[in-house]
This record gives sequence, structure tokens and C-alpha cells, in this order.
Amino acid sequence: METTPEKLEMFYEGKAKKLYSTPDPDLVIAYFKDDATAFNAKKRGTIEDKGVINNRMSELFFTLLERSGVKTHFVRRINDREMLCKRLQIVPVETVVRNLVAGSMAKRLGREEGEQLPRPVVEYYYKNDALDDPLILGEHAIAFGWATAEELKTIDRLALRVNEILGLFLDERGILLVDFKLEFGRYHGEILLGDEICPDTCRFWDKATRKKLDKDRFRRDLGDVEEAYQEMLRRVEK
Ligand code: TMP
Repeated sequence: METTPEKLEMFYEGKAKKLYSTPDPDLVIAYFKDDATAFNAKKRGTIEDKGVINNRMSELFFTLLERSGVKTHFVRRINDREMLCKRLQIVPVETVVRNLVAGSMAKRLGREEGEQLPRPVVEYYYKNDALDDPLILGEHAIAFGWATAEELKTIDRLALRVNEILGLFLDERGILLVDFKLEFGRYHGEILLGDEICPDTCRFWDKATRKKLDKDRFRRDLGDVEEAYQEMLRRVEK
């Protein structure tokens, strides 16, 4: 068993996670909270054991991705709520990949939720709470120095690769990967996948019934929120 570095000071608290420094400047400890927010924290609540489920599910997805050649910040899970990660300099661009129309795409473009897209659509959002994470063009990210053209190309390629790997894995478990959000960061000159991959950051629908098994149950007050997170973990652990 490898030794876990000591948790030093908390240097960042987000809506779902806290980040702690360690004596190693290249490593951080992420602590997964049960706090749930939606609509840029205008709606707040808690989802019991969400932190435990998201930590474990992220571990499983990051391990799967690493095995398939996608480099991530994941080092190892420490305990129920903590994960050891490489310290990234986060690119302030959130990348969303969509396979079916849902959420803000349905709303923005007046399309029916559930419409199959002929090929995956990659979108970028500027990570900025004060502006409500607006949809942007890649050109904006380049113009304002949030990412270089080369970094965006890498991000695009990795995001589509993640979509293929997770889509196939989930399909075998009776789950439709509707869409998801990724964050990337720089680590010693390389772009790595960061953040978490879980029902907070993805839309998962049961293939047979199209039942939503993700955070939309909280966002839209659909009930059975905890049950949906647990059901997703069961499917992914199979
Ligand atoms: P959207 O349809 O609301 O734009 O969401 C697209 C995907 O991104 C969906 O799987 C949920 C995820 N997402 C986040 O992870 N964080 C966010 O703040 C938002 C708005 C969406």
C-alpha cells in the first residue's frame, strides 16, 4: 500500500469538491462533498452519499480511460470521499460533448429532448461563475488566451475519445450517454483530463426506459435522486 501524502491547507472550495495541497507540489487531495447545486448555485441541496458515489464512479471511469490511453489527473482513491490527483493548471474552458439533444441545447435551439444527433457535437463554455458559464466559440478561448489553438485541438480529440470509450462501456450496461462535461488542465506541458466524471457532470439515461439516472433528477425535482446515483454506480461497477 502506497503512503498517502499529508493533507495541508484547503486552497479551493467549489460547489461539489474541496481541494487540499500536499507536501508534494505536484499532488492535491480532492474531497467530494454531498452538496448539490444547480443553475449556478441558485438552487441548493444535498444528495446523501453523492460524494462517496462520485468519488468511486470517477475512479472507475478514470481507470478505464487510463487503460485506454487517455491521460488523466487521477492517481488513486484514498478513501470514501478523497482522491489523490495530479495538480493541474485548469484551462478555464468547460468542454461538453453531446450525443442526444438535451438540457441547454434543447432550450437554446428549440429542439426536442432525446433527438439523436447524427454525430457528436462538441461545445465550449467559459468557466466563469459571474457570467453563468456562457457558451463560447473556440476562437474566443484562443483570442482571450484561455487556451492555445493546439491545446483546443488536443482537448477536442481527447473529448471525442472519452465519448467513444465511455459510450461503449455504458452501452454494454444498458445506459445511454446523452451528454457530459469535461475539464482539462496543464501538467508539465501536457494536457490532462481533470475534475470528475459522475452523474453530476453527465446525463445518463436507461436505454430501455429512458429513465434519467443523473443530476437532472435534482435539477428538475423528479424525485428518487439518491436511488438514481446508486443505480448508476451499480451499473458501472458491474
Ligand atoms: P447543459 O445541457 O445544461 O448545458 O449540460 C450539458 C452537460 O454538462 C450535462 O451532462 C451536465 C453537465 N454540466 C455540468 O457538469 N456542469 C454545469 O454547470 C452544467 C450547466 C452542466
